[in-house]
Order: sequence, then structure tokens, then C-alpha cells
Amino acid sequence: MNKILLFCDPGIDDSLAIMYALLHPDLDVVGIVSSYGNVPQEQATNNVAYLLKLAGREDIPLIGGAKGPLSGEITVYYPEIHGPEGLGPIRPPETIVGELLNYNRVFEIIEQYKGELTIVEIGRMTSLAIAFILGEEHMKKVKDYFIMGGAFLVPGNVTPVAEANFYGDPIAANLVLSKATNVTIIPLNVTTEAIVTSEVVDYITQFQFNPFTPLIEPIFEFYADAYVELVPGLNGAPMHDVLTLSAVTNRDLVQYVMRPVTVQILAETRGQSVTDFRPGWEPEPTDVLRRVALELNYQFFVHDFVEVMTKSLRD
Ligand code: RIB
Ligand code: CA
Repeated sequence: MNKILLFCDPGIDDSLAIMYALLHPDLDVVGIVSSYGNVPQEQATNNVAYLLKLAGREDIPLIGGAKGPLSGEITVYYPEIHGPEGLGPIRPPETIVGELLNYNRVFEIIEQYKGELTIVEIGRMTSLAIAFILGEEHMKKVKDYFIMGGAFLVPGNVTPVAEANFYGDPIAANLVLSKATNVTIIPLNVTTEAIVTSEVVDYITQFQFNPFTPLIEPIFEFYADAYVELVPGLNGAPMHDVLTLSAVTNRDLVQYVMRPVTVQILAETRGQSVTDFRPGWEPEPTDVLRRVALELNYQFFVHDFVEVMTKSLRD
């Protein structure tokens, strides 16, 4: 069983990723850090709290993450993609207000599961960077990191070269990539291929398999409608964050290369993920190599997504 501490900013694909993680029989979510990103941190927190309540998993610690990037800039949100509240047309009941635990709980969880904890980051990396600033000695006890971010030799999704999570706080992304060990990066190269179609959603919502089923179709349709504006002709919507969680348990899902990775911080290249793909490249002795996913086994992804999202919570 993979112990997961999840950093997120729900957001539609984050929400689907949370559902996926809570339904997955091999993923044990031992904490969730909610941060700004797709929506303000308060809204992200209420969305997490809503999903945990639906699942009857209010026992999972919900920890307050960052409300903005390390630079102190004003954050730009994306209601046109994720909806005004972050769940497309769905508004969590007003009675559900996420009660946040102090950030120190992150370090308590790392100590509790030292050597076996996987941190999965599917949002802006500010909160995770803060963990390295506040408690680097604890971070050495994390088993590994799976990070959704970056775009390698493919177009970005917020600028011509930058992916949203790295662009949202490039200082934090660079800081984490300079300090974390055993890092797997799941970039746009593979996540834009992880398309779920309306037909797949029809299939996974044909019966009420679990408490999330009624939410899936409306939030997916909102997200897919937004994506078809962004990518004309796209038949479905990309599950960036689901794919990142799926990679934790499914070793055959994507193919990787090992490379050192940095993130550009300034000007037109802000948020761009950089490595060396020249044919004769060899690592320098000082290079810290990251596993970078470059190719997706699409059939495997869809099959796994359908299987997990149609589980009952007690499967
Ligand atoms: O670029 C994709 C990432 O940005 C995902 O984590 C998604 O939630 C969006 O915020
Ligand atoms: Ca996200």
C-alpha cells in the first residue's frame, strides 16, 4: 500500500485525482495539503473537505497550504477552466467549511511514515517549497516525490513554453527540484495525452458506483467544454493530475528518461522546464537526475481510470 501525502489545488482535475486516490485500493491517502492555484486556497480547502465528506474520510488530515506564490505576486485564477468554485457547475454545500490543521502536521506525517511516504504534488509548488524551507531535515525521510509539472520540447499551456504548475510559482518549483531526491516528473508531454472522453465518462457514471459518481459527469462536461475552446477539436479533456497519481502505482503507465531539470524564473521563459535532450548527452558527476515521463501507454491509462473510478469505497 502506497502512503500518499497529497499537495493539491482543486480544481477539476485535482478533484478527479482526489476521487481516484480515495477509491484506489493501493493508495492510502494519509494527508492532504490544500493550496491556492486553480482557485483561492479557501475554496480549494472547501472542495477537499466536500470530497472527504462524501467519501466518509474526514479522518484524513487536511492541512493549510500556501495562499500565494513565494514572489508575493497576485495570483491569477482560472474559473473559465475549473468553474467559479473549482468544481465546474458544482458548489459544495455552504455548511461544509474545511477545518485546516497547522502546517507542522506535514512534518508529523513524514515522521510517522518515514521511509515509506510518497509526496504527490499536483498544484503550484509553493507549499512543498515551504516544507523544504521550514524542515529540510524531515524532507530527507520522504521515500519519493511525484510532481505534475513542466513541458519538455512541447508547447506549454499557460505560455508558449510554460506549464501552469511550474509557471504559477517558478521559484518554488526550482527550489523543490534543487532539493528533493527520488523525483518523478509527470509533464504535459504525457498528461495532455491522458484524455478522458465523454464516452468513458458515460460508462463510469452509468450506475452509482460510489459517492463521487453523481459529480463526475457535470464537472467533467464543464472541463471538457473549457478545453475544446483551448484546443479546438479535442475529443475530451486531459487528466493531468489523475495521471500523476496513477503513475505512483502503475510502473508500466509511462516511459521515463533520467535527466537533471531546472525551471526558468524570469521573463518570457518563466516556468519553462529545461533539460538536455541532445543525442550525445551524458550526465555530469554533480547532476541530480529526475525521472521525466515522456511517453504514455494510453490504453493502460484509460483502462486503469475506468477500473478505479467504478470501484465502491469498500472494494
Ligand atoms: O498544467 C496542468 C496543471 O495545472 C494541473 O495540475 C491542473 O490542475 C492545472 O492547474
Ligand atoms: Ca492541479
